[in-house]
Amino acid sequence: MIVTIDGPAGAGKSTVSRLLAAELGFRFLDTGSMYRAITWAALDRQVPLDDHAGLAALAGAVTIVVTDQGLTVDGADVTRAIRDPTVTRNIGPVADNPEVRRVMVELQRRIASDGDYVCEGRDQGTVAFPNAECKIYLTASPEHRAQRRVGDLAERGLSGDYETILEEQMARDFRDQNRAVGRLQQAPDAIVVDTDNLSVDEVVQKLKQIVQTKIAGRKS
Ligand code: DC
Repeated sequence: MIVTIDGPAGAGKSTVSRLLAAELGFRFLDTGSMYRAITWAALDRQVPLDDHAGLAALAGAVTIVVTDQGLTVDGADVTRAIRDPTVTRNIGPVADNPEVRRVMVELQRRIASDGDYVCEGRDQGTVAFPNAECKIYLTASPEHRAQRRVGDLAERGLSGDYETILEEQMARDFRDQNRAVGRLQQAPDAIVVDTDNLSVDEVVQKLKQIVQTKIAGRKS
């Protein structure tokens, strides 16, 4: 079974998707990490981010291996490196690139073909797995998402200015919602879950219930 979880940055998708997968005994696929990996490789190999053909060629040439522990690019463990703010700041042209997206979606389908998966990203229910049995669109207000980001940074001993984070998040939302291919949008058959005022555990239990209802419906 494929469960897709899409939604804007900062809605808590990664955390709850990982926990949901563990509770269900499914594997977890963080597709944002794949776009991060290509961005990391472009910076590492000095492929200019405005070189569309160069980025496309890079996506086709590198070997990305996703494991439950993290991710490697041509054998190099980049699990931590892809979370660097430099990667986050430069990811836009990579995620916008239709050829990069085609290669990533193909890889996502290949990975998820071997069992039960929770696939998390922006286009999982719309483009990568349009026939997924269970689609969830996880969202939260911009203010809650920015506040959560400030909290996450504080937990890691880092400080973040709320207004700046909110502004950057709005810019990312706009870019995610307006790219030509694979834009962030709710699949018509997705169930929307608003995470404002819900704890991580409450969201996970809610999602688990949604998936279990789907599984029960399949059996009856
Ligand atoms: O979920 P994240 O913040 O790690 O995602 C990193 C970037 O990748 C984000 O700017 C949106 C993009 N992305 C995408 O375009 N499609 C996906 N399926 C997942 C992420």
